[in-house]
Amino acid sequence: MSTVTIASLQKMKQEGKKIASVTAYDASFAKTMTEQGVDFMLVGDSLGNVIQGLSSTVPVTLADMVYHTTMVRRGAPQAFVIADMPFMSYATPEQSYQNAAELMRAGANMVKLEGGEWLTETIQGLATRGIPVCAHLGLLPQSVNVIGGYKVQGKQQQQADQTLAQALQLQAAGAQLLVLECIPAGLGKRITEELTIPTIGIGAGPDTDGQILVMHDLLGMNSDYLPKFAKDFLAETGSLASAFRHYVEQVQKGEFPAPEHCYK
Ligand code: KIV
Repeated sequence: MSTVTIASLQKMKQEGKKIASVTAYDASFAKTMTEQGVDFMLVGDSLGNVIQGLSSTVPVTLADMVYHTTMVRRGAPQAFVIADMPFMSYATPEQSYQNAAELMRAGANMVKLEGGEWLTETIQGLATRGIPVCAHLGLLPQSVNVIGGYKVQGKQQQQADQTLAQALQLQAAGAQLLVLECIPAGLGKRITEELTIPTIGIGAGPDTDGQILVMHDLLGMNSDYLPKFAKDFLAETGSLASAFRHYVEQVQKGEFPAPEHCYK
């Protein structure tokens, strides 16, 4: 298996090859996912929800993120690993440098930040100091208390235009990857076509350069609720390894997400 780097992800975009990624929080799952061909893993602050049983990602700390990043790196020494910067750990550029450095020391190859134009100075500063950045637009779970719930974003033309403008600003600031969460499929396509960096969608339609799912959704682990954009691959396959493999194959073939997983 060839090593994944930001350059190889960029090449995949240029060649029209879909990128398949999953969130990971521990060594065993990180090893299994990597063996099944997942292109990269995100140590998401969604661990607040799926590991810690919280109702939002807001209480997740830098220490939590460092701990889980260390474990994922231990399980998959060669993998490309992105670590989420938790709520308020990048409130100022100076804070972001110190906190991102902790995540890089724990084994991350890149850090992810949620937000729009207010992050341009931070992203520029991180990139200049040798820390690759993944931006995150659309639904921003760390801002749930401002948004007032987990809602699809960018449905109105003005909001859609603003999201595209922010994506271009963050790319110009030095972001090398962009996660787009819960936006209409048409907007996911438009942003992907306008940007030169790869876009990774979660509920952003089939036309982003890649897809990401929270591991627990991919495995149908919450029997009470499966988000519209997710699919239980374990139910279709019967083993953990084949669930990850099947997900990767369906993303690569453009079969996932299907129309029923997309927002209009
Ligand atoms: O924390 C997370 O798992 C994420 C994904 C939803 C992309 O940010």
